[in-house]
Formats: sequence, structure tokens, C-alpha cells
Amino acid sequence: MSSLPLSETAPVVGDVFGRPLKSLRLSVTDRCNLRCKYCMPEEDYTWLPRETILSFEELATLTDLFTELGVDKVRLTGGEPLLRKDLPIFVRMLTRNRRIKDIALTTNGVLMADQAEALHYAGLHRVTVSLDTLRPDRFRALTRRDMHRQVLEGIDAVVRAGFQNLKLDTVAIKGFNDDELADLIEYGKHVSAEVRFIEYMDVGGATEWSMDKVLSRAEILDRLSRRYGPVEPVIEESSAPAQRFTLPDGTTFGIIASTTSPFCATCDRSRLTADGLWYLCLYAKDGIDLRAPLRAGVSRDDLIALIRAGWRQRKDRGAEERKALERFGLREARLIEIERLREDPHLEMHARGG
Ligand code: GTP
Ligand code: 5AD
Ligand code: SF4
Repeated sequence: MSSLPLSETAPVVGDVFGRPLKSLRLSVTDRCNLRCKYCMPEEDYTWLPRETILSFEELATLTDLFTELGVDKVRLTGGEPLLRKDLPIFVRMLTRNRRIKDIALTTNGVLMADQAEALHYAGLHRVTVSLDTLRPDRFRALTRRDMHRQVLEGIDAVVRAGFQNLKLDTVAIKGFNDDELADLIEYGKHVSAEVRFIEYMDVGGATEWSMDKVLSRAEILDRLSRRYGPVEPVIEESSAPAQRFTLPDGTTFGIIASTTSPFCATCDRSRLTADGLWYLCLYAKDGIDLRAPLRAGVSRDDLIALIRAGWRQRKDRGAEERKALERFGLREARLIEIERLREDPHLEMHARGG
């Protein structure tokens, strides 16, 4: 890993709307061991060619450059990031960069039972596990795999390994798990995790999406307040996508209302795919290739200049633009046609890390 200047904080670069570059989501693999309907509804996919996948050294070098421009939060995503061999070694590499204040992981939990301890030991700070249902039969119907037990064991392993601030992410889908909101909150209490309900999004890969399957923030709040009594918003300054709420007994939970109430105005995140394309928005159709210049030996300063210039011209507000289509009755049209998804796997949600 490259040596760092003495200062632990870097000057922050703003985009066209003044949004800072603070958070980097690193997709370490595009592969996944589940086939969730909202993300990877097909059985077979075109995977990124092996030789294009960045090594840990390459990923760490690029991450270093981002931290020179203000990034202080890194989240490891996939596909399923635990499918990447030796992930704890990469986590350890990231901990050497003192500008990174937060290293988090988003996982489906299937492989967590075996890896939680090593990841904690390596210095990973936080874990978010996707948990959409407590029912094994529903899990199988959603993911095409019979691995619900492994996920629950994975969650237990995260707790046992000593991670604080465990989060459980639930994509709330009408007619699928909308009757499980309270059960999931109760399960969250049981494992000391904060549950976050995510509105179903019409991003690439979500080819079965339709507005009538979206359980909105308003509906989620309505259901939970009928069950628990008054739900209060937590008053806090945050650029995070989740808004937090408190139940009468003090339990907190989050809602990520990206579909009905986009948070593009404060979005400080960007994504690097496993093969080194840099996407400025979850909905962006093109990424900036950082792999080619990195492998061509372009200097550190020139790479930083490339990233700075990329962020400065960023105008993306993909979720807001999708929402604006509602006024013209165009929301149901596919974001990306299936043929285009097949041609370019980068357009899939699983390649850019959810
Ligand atoms: P922390 O708040 O730091 O814990 O992380 P996070 O909420 O950003 O991370 P996580 O990966 O758990 O994100 C939760 C979900 O929010 C993702 O799986 C996406 O569904 C959604 N999401 C995350 N980032 C974005 C984004 O930039 N844009 C939109 N529209 N949705 C996002
Ligand atoms: N809508 C909402 N969230 C999604 N994710 C993936 N696809 C979608 C979608 N269509 C998120 C889920 C999942 C994580 C990896 O990405 O939170 O748990
Ligand atoms: Fe950020 Fe794009 Fe998501 Fe808006 S849609 S919050 S700009 S990633």
C-alpha cells in the first residue's frame, strides 16, 4: 500500500451540487450464492472476466487515492463479498489507511458463520446482513436457495464475534414479506440489531419490479404504529440513506425510502465495481474506467486528478429522476431492457453492490 501524507484528514471535493465525496462502496466480486428476485432473478449470468477483477493490492491502491479526496467511509459489497477468497486480508490492508474511519460490510450472511471471527480480528468495524424473511419457505422462494438456516447462523456468529451496531436490511415487498415487519423487529431485538426496511427499487437487475409491489415508508410506518403505538422520528443530522425511528419501548429501526422519497440531495457515495469501473450513482448507466489507467502505470497524482475531475462534474440524481417519471405515467417502463443487461453486466445491481 502506498505511503500516506501526515495529515489524517483530506480536503473534501464537491460535485456540481456541492455534495462531498465521502463514502466509497467497493464491490469485491460480482458473483453471488443467492438469486434474490429483486436483484438477480435469473439463474445464469455473464460474469466479469477473471483477469479484469482487481487484486487486493489494486483495490487498496485505488481506495488510498479516494481517501486523498475526502473518502473516510468504505463499505465492502458484492455480489456477495464473502465469496471473495481471503477477504480478511483485504480488510487488514484497509485498516492501515488511517483516513478510513469506518469499514463496513454488506453481506447475505450465508458464509458469515465461518468468517465472522476472522473479519472482526482483521479490523472490520460494522456488518449489515440482508434478511428479508424469517420463514425458510419464503427465503427459498425469494432466493432459489435453501440457505435460510445458514443466514441465521451467520447472524449469530456476527454477534458472537463481538461486532457492535449490527444492522439487518429487509427489502419490503408487498405480497411477499409485508406481514413480517413486526416479526423482523422482534428478531432484531433478540440479536441486538437495528432493522432497516428498504423500499423496493427499480434498479438494474430488478426486472420483476412494479410500483404495486413497493411497500412505501408511509405504509411501513402505518403498520408498525398500529402494532406498537406511536412511532417517533429520531432527530439527527445524517447523509445516510436510512431515516431512523423509535418505537414506544425505545427500539429503533430505519427506513430507506429511496423509491418514494429519494435522498439524492445529500448523496455522498460512489461505487467501484470489482473490475475497477467507478460509478457515480446507483442508477448511472456508465462508469469511469480506473482499471485501465491503473494497470497502464499512470501516476498517483494523475489518477487522483482523474477522480477529482470525475466527481467535480457529477450531476447524478438517479432516484429523483426515476421518481419524476411518475408524473408522466412512465415509471413502470424498465430502467434498462433485459437485452442491455445481458450485454453489459455492469448494469446489474449485483455488479455495483446494492
Ligand atoms: P450505513 O448507513 O453506513 O450503515 O450504510 P448504508 O445504509 O449506506 O449501507 P447499506 O449497504 O446497508 O445500504 C442499504 C441499502 O440502501 C442498499 O442495499 C440499497 O438498497 C440502498 N442504498 C444504499 N446506497 C444507496 C444509494 O446511493 N442510492 C440509493 N438510491 N439507494 C441506496
Ligand atoms: N431494491 C432495494 N434494495 C435492493 N438491494 C438489491 N436490490 C434491491 C432492490 N431492487 C439491496 C438489498 C440487499 C442489498 C445487497 O442490496 O438491501 O440486501
Ligand atoms: Fe445517490 Fe444516485 Fe442513489 Fe441518488 S440515486 S442517492 S444520487 S446513488
